[in-house]
Amino acid sequence: MSRIFRLFQFCLPQYRRMEACFGGIARWWLPKQPTLQSVVVPTTRLTAPLTLVHLSDLHCASWTRADYIEATVAAALALEPDLILWTGDFFHSDPRHMARIMPLFAPLHRAAPTFAVLGNHDFDADLSDALPLLEASGMVFLRQDYRVLSFAGGNLLLGGIDDYQIQACDMPTAYFEQPREMFRLLLSHQPDYLFRLAPDSVDLMLSGHLHGGQIVFPVVGPLYLPSPRGRTFLGEPITEREGNRVHTNLGLGYTLMPVRLNCPPTMSVVRLAPVPAERR
Ligand SMILES: [Fe+2]
Repeated sequence: MSRIFRLFQFCLPQYRRMEACFGGIARWWLPKQPTLQSVVVPTTRLTAPLTLVHLSDLHCASWTRADYIEATVAAALALEPDLILWTGDFFHSDPRHMARIMPLFAPLHRAAPTFAVLGNHDFDADLSDALPLLEASGMVFLRQDYRVLSFAGGNLLLGGIDDYQIQACDMPTAYFEQPREMFRLLLSHQPDYLFRLAPDSVDLMLSGHLHGGQIVFPVVGPLYLPSPRGRTFLGEPITEREGNRVHTNLGLGYTLMPVRLNCPPTMSVVRLAPVPAERR
């Protein structure tokens, strides 16, 4: 393990030099704004609809441009969200890029309550520096914690967990003991947390981490997924298992290199749509 760590220490400065190079030229091929993926989740636990904007895997890097973020913010504001939810991986290899980019999200975060969880990459930063910077843009982090949020259509139980593999953590039992009448929404960077949930324990989980594969070949599919169960979460906007549902966002940014194939950067809008009990 120490050899791997020494190799990582050796490679990181070289990679940062290469990343700085990409920052100058990637503007010629990167999209000017993310694609919008619309997801409708029927529910009997609310009596009025709620609109959630779900963002994930921004991976701030040298190639993350201000005009891309401003277009993202404008598109998200046009959706008039009731809640804005982030599912981690705010930076890529150099946390200093967050100081340049995250303040640009403040107008969006002022428009609606904004909650977030941390992804695996975020733990590469010194959290005593990174968390205040992220929170200053107007987001509240849920770290093995939850809130009850009240809306006209009913209460929503919003929970959030750090990357559960990096931190070897779990949601507290108290979250799952709250009254089942509330719509239970859970934020987890890794969609694989679905496999740790007891049957019928959440109405919806929001996740990221996979970037949809980022490089996706026709017929063959993704070149690489950072999870052996990753393909479970691709294809359909919602994956359901034992009564628990997860939507896995395709990511706003890029990992390793600013390249995507057949998998554009994406922002999700999730509409919780009330339905009568017999129609669910
Ligand atoms: Fe990521």
